[in-house]
Amino acid sequence: MADDTLHGPTVSRGAEATLRRVEWMGFPALLKEREVKSYRAKALDERLRRERTRTEARLLVDARRLGVRTPIVYDIDLAKHRLVLEQLEGPTLKELLEQPDLAPERLAHAVRELGVGLGRLHAGGISHGDLTSSNVLFPNGADGPPAFLDLSMGSRSPGLEELGIDLHLVEEDLKSLHAKPEPLVRAFLEGYTEGNPAGAKDVRARAKAIKGRVRYA
Ligand SMILES: Nc1ncnc2c1ncn2[C@@H]1O[C@H](COP(=O)(O)OP(=O)(O)O)[C@@H](O)[C@H]1O
Ligand SMILES: [Mg+2]
Repeated sequence: MADDTLHGPTVSRGAEATLRRVEWMGFPALLKEREVKSYRAKALDERLRRERTRTEARLLVDARRLGVRTPIVYDIDLAKHRLVLEQLEGPTLKELLEQPDLAPERLAHAVRELGVGLGRLHAGGISHGDLTSSNVLFPNGADGPPAFLDLSMGSRSPGLEELGIDLHLVEEDLKSLHAKPEPLVRAFLEGYTEGNPAGAKDVRARAKAIKGRVRYA
């Protein structure tokens, strides 16, 4: 990975990583670099950044193999904790939920597709691990399928608890970001059951149990 790829405008600076707009072989791309965390011991910090970079690349590729959309991984530099990712267009789930002029049926359709995609991911043995509304993007707008971002906290051998947490987090975001969440939650769960027909019953039950635990904690 050439160092001149580094010089692009910053599009996001999160808790863990910085994303810069770059070009990769002429394609619009994002360089995601995990920054040093000086509060961690140096060796531990180095190892965590490398592992998360590796996990993210691996799960992004594995998810694509299941037919679930994710950005293409163009390049990886483990020593520098960098990934070069396909730059996707389109609103995040958060932005979609906050669009005041989007027809409710179109939003419900988008959320249903999100459920189908997550169901496929789970049925294929992958949990997301950080499924917030900023980590889902709709590259073709509300009428197309979702893409999943930021899989570095995901797992290739998730337990029921991890799957339940993914489901629970989406439900919570729908409820906190939309004034009429009930039809959306229903559409999401319908889609999820379609994407993960064998596992949906157990995962939905676990998500419900997690909600109860959080409420009465
Ligand atoms: N491949 C991509 N295409 C378009 N936007 C992206 C892409 N990857 C990330 N983003 C945008 O940058 C934000 C942060 O990226 P993310 O991978 O979630 O990093 P972080 O670990 O900092 O949350 C996302 O919420 C999204 O808005
Ligand atoms: Mg993120």
